[in-house]
Amino acid sequence: MKSIAIMLTMHLIILSLLLFLKLSSTSAFDTVNQGSSLSVDEPKDIIVSQNGMFCAGFYAVGENAYSFAIWFSEPNHQTKNLTLVWMANREQPVNGKGSKLHLLHNGNLILRDTDAFHVWSTNTVTLSSVHLILLNTGNLVLQGNGVTLWQSFDFPTDTLLPQQVFNRHSKLICSRSETNKSSGFYTLYFDNDNILRILYDGPEVSSIFWPDPWLTDWDAKRAGYNNSKVAVLDTLGNFSSSDDFNFMTSDYGDAMMQRRLRLDPDGNLRTYSRKQSGQNWYTSWQAKSRPCRIHGVCGVNSLCSYYSNSVKCACLPGYKMKNPQDWAYGCEPEFTLSCNKTASRFLIITNVELYGYDYGILTNYTLEQCKDLCLQLCNCKGIQFTYVKDGTGIPGTYSCYPKMQLRNAFRIPYFNADLHLKLPVNSTYTYTESMDDKYKLVCSSNLKTVTLATSYTKFREGRYIRFLLWFVGGMGGLEILCIFVMWFFFVRKKQKTSRTATRVYDMVGFRKFSYSELKRATKSFSQEIGRGAGGIVYKGVLLDQRIIAVKRVKEANQGEEEFLAEVSSIGRLNHMNLIELYGYCVERKHQMLVYEYLENGSLAEHIKSSRLDWGKRFEIALGTAKGLAYIHEECLEWILHCDVKPHNILLDSNYQPKVADFGLSKSRNRNDPKFSSFSKIRGTRGYMAPEWILNHSITSKVDVYSYGIVVLEMITGKSATKDVDVGNGQEKLGLVMWLREKRNESISWVKEIMDPNIEEGCDENEVETLAEVALQCVEEEKDKRPTMSHVVEVLQKISRENDNQESTSS
Ligand SMILES: *[C@@H]1O[C@H](CO)[C@@H](O)[C@H](O)[C@H]1NC(C)=O
Ligand SMILES: *[C@@H]1O[C@H](CO)[C@@H](O)[C@H](O)[C@H]1NC(C)=O
Ligand SMILES: *[C@@H]1O[C@H](CO)[C@@H](O)[C@H](O)[C@H]1NC(C)=O
Ligand SMILES: *[C@@H]1O[C@H](CO)[C@@H](O)[C@H](O)[C@H]1NC(C)=O
Ligand SMILES: *[C@@H]1O[C@H](CO)[C@@H](O)[C@H](O)[C@H]1NC(C)=O
Ligand SMILES: *[C@@H]1O[C@H](CO)[C@@H](O)[C@H](O)[C@H]1NC(C)=O
Ligand SMILES: *[C@@H]1O[C@H](CO)[C@@H](O)[C@H](O)[C@H]1NC(C)=O
Repeated sequence: MKSIAIMLTMHLIILSLLLFLKLSSTSAFDTVNQGSSLSVDEPKDIIVSQNGMFCAGFYAVGENAYSFAIWFSEPNHQTKNLTLVWMANREQPVNGKGSKLHLLHNGNLILRDTDAFHVWSTNTVTLSSVHLILLNTGNLVLQGNGVTLWQSFDFPTDTLLPQQVFNRHSKLICSRSETNKSSGFYTLYFDNDNILRILYDGPEVSSIFWPDPWLTDWDAKRAGYNNSKVAVLDTLGNFSSSDDFNFMTSDYGDAMMQRRLRLDPDGNLRTYSRKQSGQNWYTSWQAKSRPCRIHGVCGVNSLCSYYSNSVKCACLPGYKMKNPQDWAYGCEPEFTLSCNKTASRFLIITNVELYGYDYGILTNYTLEQCKDLCLQLCNCKGIQFTYVKDGTGIPGTYSCYPKMQLRNAFRIPYFNADLHLKLPVNSTYTYTESMDDKYKLVCSSNLKTVTLATSYTKFREGRYIRFLLWFVGGMGGLEILCIFVMWFFFVRKKQKTSRTATRVYDMVGFRKFSYSELKRATKSFSQEIGRGAGGIVYKGVLLDQRIIAVKRVKEANQGEEEFLAEVSSIGRLNHMNLIELYGYCVERKHQMLVYEYLENGSLAEHIKSSRLDWGKRFEIALGTAKGLAYIHEECLEWILHCDVKPHNILLDSNYQPKVADFGLSKSRNRNDPKFSSFSKIRGTRGYMAPEWILNHSITSKVDVYSYGIVVLEMITGKSATKDVDVGNGQEKLGLVMWLREKRNESISWVKEIMDPNIEEGCDENEVETLAEVALQCVEEEKDKRPTMSHVVEVLQKISRENDNQESTSS
């Protein structure tokens, strides 16, 4: 007893000692006064804003290289990296020993390197007393007598924070890479014509690529008449600029979000958000949905292709990387072209678009004439030959673009243009798609660090501090030992039993629930979240805190045995685009299914909202197709959904789709000859294939039809269950009929049918491809419709999926 009492007292002493040390070492301050300084040698010389959200201090940009910076206090949850928002000296880091930030008595704030050399200063002068304060908004302000002499918000680097006004003098310049923080090649600025633009200013050429350079200001929905040149992102996520450019982030309205707008090293402008509780940043808006359209992204003489959200660069055949560590420098030829017409040949690479650097646009040239012209021009590097369809049934026209430089080459399957590359006649270069994988960045680790020349003697800790550290360390060790002993005797036994319980649970995964358990979880079925033909769905929380959706199957649908047989076959399905079934309940007359709960509800709730930008809609179309292809073709039993509609496509927190309610449609063995016999019509008006009404045999093509309708709804933002007003007092048409007429009537039909919510940042060719596929899916004759797996193939070709994502999907 006595020894325990001594132990407890010791504990208390040690704990309070530790607490004291900790408190005294993190005494945060938000203000620096006149005459004082911050030193790079003192890790605790950090200014913290009063709300604790931002810090300012020395940030290590490389080995023994520091910049004075402002960052979000809370590191990124996943990578543990700090999120920088501002830097004083991005081009010229200072030494890790002896460098200081001084607030001088004359009001000047200066950053001195070890050798007392001024690296940076605010150039302010005042007679009054001044102080430097880090505000809760992340703005570092130099104040004298209540007057702002200087503020970091006026000199942004690559990031704009909420409420930070971007004006005629501001520029966002991206950093060179995620690890090299010096200035990169992209700049966001207000141009002389009052329009907000992004400029690529590369090693050899410069060009503007945002807004899209082929659009007039008017078509890009920008106004050049207002010369106030201001733009600001507010705390709710609304960005508005004086050139009429506005957007709302996908999570608009939540004032508790931390937000930032950054011009990223890849040239894209994005907003990021995260909850204040220290989660990961996610992208809540981006300017360019197709990164390959960002100029200079792969450098000169290279080919950009796109998958998932990133780009893949490759040199054109006959060219090699100039700097194997950096795509910005592109590729250089391995050959020399002779000016003699007979000394060159052409190599075709299909589906390539190259922006800019044309000799001219020649609209009535044949391919032979076009090649001939290029051969005559000594500096012609190749030609882009484009086929332009017009919808009136007349064969399309060809356009010839002789290219004087090969830049911004972007390979999109289904783009009606080919690159004919000019090469020496006796060379043997060929192109295959797999060549694109040949080029991987050579990542040498020494790229990450800047080592400055000067070296320093090691910092000598005071003897007293060393003793204290030893003492506390020793005591800490003793404490750990005693906690371990206690844990061994009292806790371990108990833990062992609970651990085996969870292991059993994990192995089974799918299980049976009791009625009372589900009643308790759903608080007596009080929170209804959905209602369909099959039954009502309620929200609930299990004892292990998992949130669930419980579906009560309408009573007396089928016998218990039949229900169990179906449930167990659904329970075996496992695909990232299918909703997960946790289990079921059969008790007396109750039949219930327990599903995972998805926070974003169903596609039906979002289909008309601007929150679903084009990128998300495309991902939803692809994911849904994958889920359906899986239940049609990849799993053992052949299951039809029979009720594909937006209400049955649920969205997770990242807006990834999960097909739901494929539950109780009939599953049959593939070889069952009686497969076509369904006893009654299933489905929802507007989404049902004609076979149901015509009483033809029912195959997986009924789901393909419904899928096509859903995709057309996503593209147009119009409902399939309502007719479309044709205008001019004409009669109304169903959605599909309306679309077919539009396609036949005009070349720019895609533009006319598109939901205005997705126009910003979407790729028209991509929309057109998806619309064409969806229209095939809704053919009246089922044999003309593609299979779900064919749809997946086509969509995946448009947007090559990241291999990593693919491998986690199954
Ligand atoms: C995070 O930091 C690590 C090393 O410190 C670096 O390799 C990585 O690129 C960083 N990630 C980002 C997104 O900056
Ligand atoms: C966003 O800000 C602009 C300009 O202040 C304003 O006109 C617009 O109504 C705002 N949008 C919303 C949804 O608040
Ligand atoms: C110009 O833009 C500013 C900021 O958006 C706005 O306050 C002002 O009313 C605009 N002026 C005109 C003439 O539209
Ligand atoms: C071009 O090359 C061909 C064959 O190599 C040769 O006969 C011809 O004289 C050359 N023409 C010129 C202008 O050099
Ligand atoms: C193209 O058309 C113009 C007139 O429209 C004509 O003068 C020119 O010869 C044509 N060029 C070719 C290569 O057919
Ligand atoms: C192609 O021909 C040129 C001369 O016409 C010669 O110098 C070169 O070596 C040849 N290259 C190959 C790959 O045969
Ligand atoms: C960072 O980028 C700058 C500008 O391109 C370059 O001069 C510098 O060498 C780079 N630093 C490292 C460590 O690569």
